[in-house]
Amino acid sequence: MKKINLAVVGATGMVGRTFLKVLEERQLPIENFYVMASSRSAGSTLTFNGKEYVVEELTEHSFDKPIDIALFSAGGGTSEKFAPIAAAHGCIVIDNSSQWRMDPEVPLVVPEVNPEDIAWHKNIIANPNCSTIQAMVALKPLDDKYKIKRVVYSTYQAVSGAGLAGWKDLENGLKGEAPKKFPHPIANNCLPHIDVFLDNGYTKEEMKMVNETRKILHNDQMRVTATTVRVPVFDCHSESINIEFEKPFEMDELLETLKNAPGVVLQNNSAENEYPLAVDAAGHDEVFIGRVRRDESVESGVNIWVVADNIRKGAATNAVQIAEEIIKNMQ
Ligand code: A2P
Repeated sequence: MKKINLAVVGATGMVGRTFLKVLEERQLPIENFYVMASSRSAGSTLTFNGKEYVVEELTEHSFDKPIDIALFSAGGGTSEKFAPIAAAHGCIVIDNSSQWRMDPEVPLVVPEVNPEDIAWHKNIIANPNCSTIQAMVALKPLDDKYKIKRVVYSTYQAVSGAGLAGWKDLENGLKGEAPKKFPHPIANNCLPHIDVFLDNGYTKEEMKMVNETRKILHNDQMRVTATTVRVPVFDCHSESINIEFEKPFEMDELLETLKNAPGVVLQNNSAENEYPLAVDAAGHDEVFIGRVRRDESVESGVNIWVVADNIRKGAATNAVQIAEEIIKNMQ
């Protein structure tokens, strides 16, 4: 297998560190490895595959050296400025920020769902929002089979989705300290507010779910709505998803479809109190689905409960899987 030169931008962050872990676990064929962040952490070291790497400051010249793939998770502003510079140097950027996701020139990819979209990239590929990724893995097999008419998302999202600062707000909040990242205490609380508010009254996180769902499932007309909530959980996003179909379904067949879907683990045994839980999904790469039940208020619809590790499948693992697809096609 061809060995590649790979850079991680934002390597010191929550997702950045998980990139390193996932790259090690999945043993990507890496020749030269670079870790980059801001001037704040330049000069510090990170361990990868048993070797210490010095963190470089990200600058306009970082991509003068040959780098095949760069995994970015350093915020939208950093991606806006530096992804085009990397791309112009022939590096393929897999970007975890929301900066490029809705750009019509940029594929938005969940490898289990729309790997074919990777083919039309122009050196930037976007990693979807964490809450969208896990929903897509659940929705795609159902859309293929029963054609989704409408989706209602209600999310219960972990603080790790807000980076190290979000994590610290919960950790310190549980000791009685005031929040620094969130506008209100997150300890013993639920905040119906993720990312900024938009003119239509929704948050940006909610509209990300709406717009990204349509782009990934290739259906501009799909009716989608969302309420996204930050909850006092460190790891893993949980989602209640209500789905209405065009076609009728048999429950046995629907369960079988989910069970056989790529990247899915079905945990649907309510009689034994078995259903997906954040504490169980943490550290895993699969999307866990349970509480599957017919929505009796519509002709053809279902309610499901979907849990995944937001930093792994919701960010780092998904990006590394995209990198694997690219490397496969390089051979
Ligand atoms: P640094 O550690 O130097 O601040 P998180 O979302 O977990 O807080 O992580 C954000 C990541 O993005 C960190 O690695 C951070 O580096 C990096 N980062 C933030 N701003 C920049 C920037 N202007 N240039 C490069 N990396 C940045």
